[in-house]
Amino acid sequence: MDFELADKTVLVTAASKGLGFATAKAFAQEGARVFLCSRTEPALLQAVEEIQRETGNALVYGMVADVSSSSDIESLFAQIHQVVPGIDVLMNNTGGPPPGDFDHVNDEQWQQAFISNLMSVVWLTRLALPYMRQQHWGRIVNFASSSVRQPIDNLILSNTLRAGVAGLSKSLALEMAKDNVLVNVLAPGRISTDRVAQLDKVRAAHLGQDEAQVRHQSESAIPLGRYGSTKEFASMAVFLGSAANGYITGQTVLVDGGMVRSL
Ligand SMILES: NC(=O)c1ccc[n+]([C@@H]2O[C@H](COP(=O)([O-])OP(=O)(O)OC[C@H]3O[C@@H](n4cnc5c(N)ncnc54)[C@H](OP(=O)(O)O)[C@@H]3O)[C@@H](O)[C@H]2O)c1
Repeated sequence: MDFELADKTVLVTAASKGLGFATAKAFAQEGARVFLCSRTEPALLQAVEEIQRETGNALVYGMVADVSSSSDIESLFAQIHQVVPGIDVLMNNTGGPPPGDFDHVNDEQWQQAFISNLMSVVWLTRLALPYMRQQHWGRIVNFASSSVRQPIDNLILSNTLRAGVAGLSKSLALEMAKDNVLVNVLAPGRISTDRVAQLDKVRAAHLGQDEAQVRHQSESAIPLGRYGSTKEFASMAVFLGSAANGYITGQTVLVDGGMVRSL
């Protein structure tokens, strides 16, 4: 399959590790020019160096930015515009909100989750759109969670805010179709990353079990019987963000090994 990414510029946010990193690397492998951001400079520079070394693609750039800050996002785009006129593909990712149920989440955490998980998508999309519209071609993929289809215990912030991202994405897909900007949601189930290991650790402490036991129970509930790899997730991200996808927009695509049982 030809993804036609060699002349494309991609921005992957929150990408020094985990899903964002694997996605940035997969786009670099396809020959795209890739910008990635995260908040911690040493980890970001290490990620850029690793992607360049492993893919042989020198057109990989790291820029420090916190996507929960609108001024950081403006500065990120200003830096990108010093290199290229705009981005063709936007992969909206951010850190996950803290675990907790309704009784244990305070107003500050609600507000922080709203800014980090929903407003970041609004701000990044707003700055990416003018160039996409002007050239009548763009792809936006908003990373969310399987919680958009089935709430996850003890993750009320994710359960609430991801639904907002799904609603926003559907509206954007309808509004942007005339500009040939395709907008989709990519929803991971349980993909093996530090974030998932951390959530397993919290759950193990909560249940008084060890982490291996918790992971085993979690994997048993997945029809494919295991956590996914970041590479498996990134393959779908690249497809949705490429010219190979010409007719899929406004959809939520689950990468979950069959975990979610809804139709
Ligand atoms: N892995 C899964 O199976 C899964 C399932 C459902 C949902 N998700 C969601 O998918 C997203 C990525 O998950 P992951 O597993 O890849 O997490 P991860 O392994 O913890 O990686 C998170 C990445 O995001 C960066 N980051 C965090 N907050 C940021 C911010 N405000 N601005 C810029 N960069 C930021 C981190 O770097 P810095 O800390 O240096 O900024 C890091 O590079 C999260 O929202 C998570 O909740 C993941």
